[in-house]
Amino acid sequence: MKKHTVRFSLNGTPREITVNANELLLNVTREQEKLTGTKYGCGIGECGACTVHVDGRPTLSCLQLAVAVDGAEVVTIEGLAKGRELDPLQKSFLDNNAVQCGYCTPGMIMIGRNLLDENPNPTEEEVRTHMRGQLCRCTGYASITKAVMGAGKCATGDFKIPAE
Ligand code: FES
Ligand code: FES
Repeated sequence: MKKHTVRFSLNGTPREITVNANELLLNVTREQEKLTGTKYGCGIGECGACTVHVDGRPTLSCLQLAVAVDGAEVVTIEGLAKGRELDPLQKSFLDNNAVQCGYCTPGMIMIGRNLLDENPNPTEEEVRTHMRGQLCRCTGYASITKAVMGAGKCATGDFKIPAE
């Protein structure tokens, strides 16, 4: 199969990769780039676990061909923290105990961040509507919704990712 070169930005770093025409962005981030925060859930666009940002838009990476992100800016869950400083929404998930098994969490945070960028103070209904495509098998929707609504006022302001 003919190989294609794809140049794109991944979490702010320029990348050049070689892929088959049918390679999915989810496989590139998880397997080629070893960024395993993005999760494989259903593989058919129904659960939202694989959500990343492509040029600022939430994108299901299990349905996104890697060749189509040529020239784009891709951000995964690993790209949200600034150094050791978590994104306020990540802190809010901790504050609100919005993580159970954690499998849906990266996708939830990526779509929640997108909502907060557009609307910093969403109502419960706005959160639920925006995130209706995200599935949580642990059914933690109430605390997840609370975490997104409370991202502007979380208490773990001094929480830092531990140094390695
Ligand atoms: S793994 Fe992509 S939507 Fe479920
Ligand atoms: S926390 Fe387990 S799937 Fe959502």
